[in-house]
Amino acid sequence: MTGFFCAGNWKMNKTPEQAAQFVRQLKESATAEEQKHLVLLPTALIAYEVAQGLKGSGVAWGGQNCYFENSGAFTGESSPSLMKEMGAKFCLVGHSERRQIFAEPDDMLAKKTAALQNLGMIPIVCVGETQDDRRWNRTQEVIVRQTRLALASADPSKPIWLAYEPVWAIGTGQVATPEQVEEAHGILRKALKEWSAMTSDRIPILYGGSVKAENSASLAALNNVNGFLIGGASLAVDDLLKIYRNSQTVRS
Ligand code: PGA
Repeated sequence: MTGFFCAGNWKMNKTPEQAAQFVRQLKESATAEEQKHLVLLPTALIAYEVAQGLKGSGVAWGGQNCYFENSGAFTGESSPSLMKEMGAKFCLVGHSERRQIFAEPDDMLAKKTAALQNLGMIPIVCVGETQDDRRWNRTQEVIVRQTRLALASADPSKPIWLAYEPVWAIGTGQVATPEQVEEAHGILRKALKEWSAMTSDRIPILYGGSVKAENSASLAALNNVNGFLIGGASLAVDDLLKIYRNSQTVRS
């Protein structure tokens, strides 16, 4: 596994002007090498500003969600092929807010994952247990099941990323302990091996859930943590870069 990646999930935040300003500042502040390890995930309505602003930089961007069809009578949905045409390299699949608030079922997530891979995009498949799952010792069962189902139609020979995001740690300030993160990432690495022995070691597994500059070094040092999916702390350039730079202090 080479490199460590930080993906900023902006969720439903930022105006077009704020997005353009962020991108300008990021390009000025991040070195060319750092840019190659950063991904921005804006909401669809400001994707154009992000795509335009990032042109010529090393920073990649992606969607937070898409449908599995490229066009047609799907009111309100975002087309993955259109996203790709705009320059997106990535798209989140199955973020817990999509699973919980918008009731996206596993079979739909599997279709989205496959559709993105077929377009040559990289799905970032999100899995994670709830507080109740953890309390009742169901963490392993839940994250392995979510992974298997989301990857059911995926192609192991094409790029794919995984993100472990315990639901109880998202946006709560309650970050998972290093032991919990390392254990979950080990479980996911094993599940990926069972899915594809040949390619599993090349699949980055990101951690997400209240990642901040203060906890990023200790989390980045863990086995099988290959990057972060960052919500709140990705909204300011300085915070995002501090997280990335702190992660590098323990990995070189
Ligand atoms: P958070 O969000 O960093 O604000 O906890 C993470 C995410 O939802 O991807």
